[in-house]
Amino acid sequence: MDAAEAIPIRRMDFEFSDDVDLVFIEGDPGLSYFFVGAWMMLPYLEPFLIRTIQAATPLIEDADLRARMTRFCAQEGQHFRQHARLNEVVRRVHPSGPKLAELEKAVEAEFAAWSAEKPLKFNLAYGEGFESMTCAGARTQIQLGMFGWMKEPIRSLMYWHILEEIEHRSVCFEVYEAVVGDYLYRSRMSLWFQRHYFAWCGRFAREMIAADPETMARYDTPEWARVRKRRAAAYQRDYLPRLLGTFMPWYDPGRVRLPDGFSAARAEFSARAVSVQ
Ligand SMILES: [Fe+2]
Ligand SMILES: [Fe+2]
Repeated sequence: MDAAEAIPIRRMDFEFSDDVDLVFIEGDPGLSYFFVGAWMMLPYLEPFLIRTIQAATPLIEDADLRARMTRFCAQEGQHFRQHARLNEVVRRVHPSGPKLAELEKAVEAEFAAWSAEKPLKFNLAYGEGFESMTCAGARTQIQLGMFGWMKEPIRSLMYWHILEEIEHRSVCFEVYEAVVGDYLYRSRMSLWFQRHYFAWCGRFAREMIAADPETMARYDTPEWARVRKRRAAAYQRDYLPRLLGTFMPWYDPGRVRLPDGFSAARAEFSARAVSVQ
């Protein structure tokens, strides 16, 4: 498969109106707000990944990897632009909007400082830690049929994004291996990074949950609690072994098992795209 086939650049035209249902996972405002909150970071985190890969480009000789690095940056560039359209609505319509905007400023400053001050080794390890974790999560989300529990239009935004995360899953890993190649540093950094990232996710999600007690109360029923518990158990059973796999010395994202339905989803989103390059 050549670079264009493996990592196609799809331009999407998702529309988010002010009455978009932010509880897009049925019966689960907490998890919905966790995702929506975490995505507020993407317009700062994904440009950081792009800057990191661009900084490593002069160190890479392999023409195929360089082509995939360009495509990685183009896919991530589309991701944060589409998410920014939803974030604008969230900031405007959700009661936590002003608090989220404050957190965004802090995230923006942190990732800008890292690009300016941290060694490339650190930034590449962070990028690879993020990519291997999101790829493990993406495979679980497709495998469990989570998109069947979700409402449009946020469902499609998330599905398109995570399926492209699977498509470009090997790029950061291969660049890290070529430039740094230190397994222990990668594992140590991945653990540190996951704590760092989830601490930020938690801050955004907590603001959204605290500002909207009515929505939280609406789904606070024994029936929905049972559904959430069952789903969470299934998620952990599928996800934890995949995540653990990323910490193994023999981890290679190019060889991970891909979920059923992955190829069909790729074709579906290519057909829906405004253009595919
Ligand atoms: Fe992305
Ligand atoms: Fe990515």
